[in-house]
Amino acid sequence: MHVWAVANQKGGVGKTTTAVTLAGILADKGERVLLLDLDPHGSLTSYFKYDPDNVEKSVYDLFQHAKIPESLPASLLLDTGHDQLKLMAASTALATLERQKSGQGGMGLVVAKSLAQLWNRFDYVLIDSPPVLGLLMINALAACRQLIIPVQTEFLAIKGLERMMRTLNMINRARKNALPYTVVPTLYDRRTQASIQSLRLLRNSYGDVLFHSMIPVDTKFRDASVAGLPPSQLDPQSRGVHAYNVLLKFMQEKEAQTQANGSGAA
Ligand SMILES: Nc1ncnc2c1ncn2[C@@H]1O[C@H](COP(=O)(O)OP(=O)(O)O)[C@@H](O)[C@H]1O
Ligand SMILES: [Mg+2]
Repeated sequence: MHVWAVANQKGGVGKTTTAVTLAGILADKGERVLLLDLDPHGSLTSYFKYDPDNVEKSVYDLFQHAKIPESLPASLLLDTGHDQLKLMAASTALATLERQKSGQGGMGLVVAKSLAQLWNRFDYVLIDSPPVLGLLMINALAACRQLIIPVQTEFLAIKGLERMMRTLNMINRARKNALPYTVVPTLYDRRTQASIQSLRLLRNSYGDVLFHSMIPVDTKFRDASVAGLPPSQLDPQSRGVHAYNVLLKFMQEKEAQTQANGSGAA
């Protein structure tokens, strides 16, 4: 099972879009895919027309046990309308976890342990994480083998990236192996100087961990979210979906490389 998390301590940079688009493409290829929503805002949950304020089963349930019951993670899987794609929803109650649980030991591994119980059920898990450093982001980073950091091609977003790098360094100090990560330029608009110059800046500063291409602005992403479909189901030929296909191939090659080098194991 391949577990990838999408994270950045900034909102509106394309995290949820990245998770749902990659998941959709993988599901179209016949992979069994799980989308895990760890953001209390529940954008991914809303994307598939579930209500984070009222959802019956959610990842919140995983945090309510000292030892996670074996059958619990599988019982929380929701349909998305795509046979190969399941969702584990976020509920707004997740926002209260920080206060309730942060003092309890072992809480950082709840998601990792839950995914271990779904090992034979899925080929890929994509985790969408919240834009704040806390228990949920810690869980996402502890559970994944590859981290995708979307960054909007705009100056303020690049400043925000430095904060995410500090978080990653902190996490890596607690891990046996450093977590491999990939910075992905998003919302690229080739007609604007801001996009062109920020992409140049990213290439200069993050060259070796940067996705070699970028994700363009494409209005089809919004259309897909309105329709509640993974973008590849709405329009597989769109520019945006094409760019995510290139990213997927990049990530798969990178993961294979990481494994061949014997590092990156959680
Ligand atoms: N490449 C893109 N082109 C056009 N709109 C995009 C693109 N990526 C994301 N969006 C839109 O931008 C908004 C924020 O994206 P989202 O993925 O929700 O960001 P985050 O999860 O980081 O907050 C959403 O309305 C989404 O549809
Ligand atoms: Mg989001």
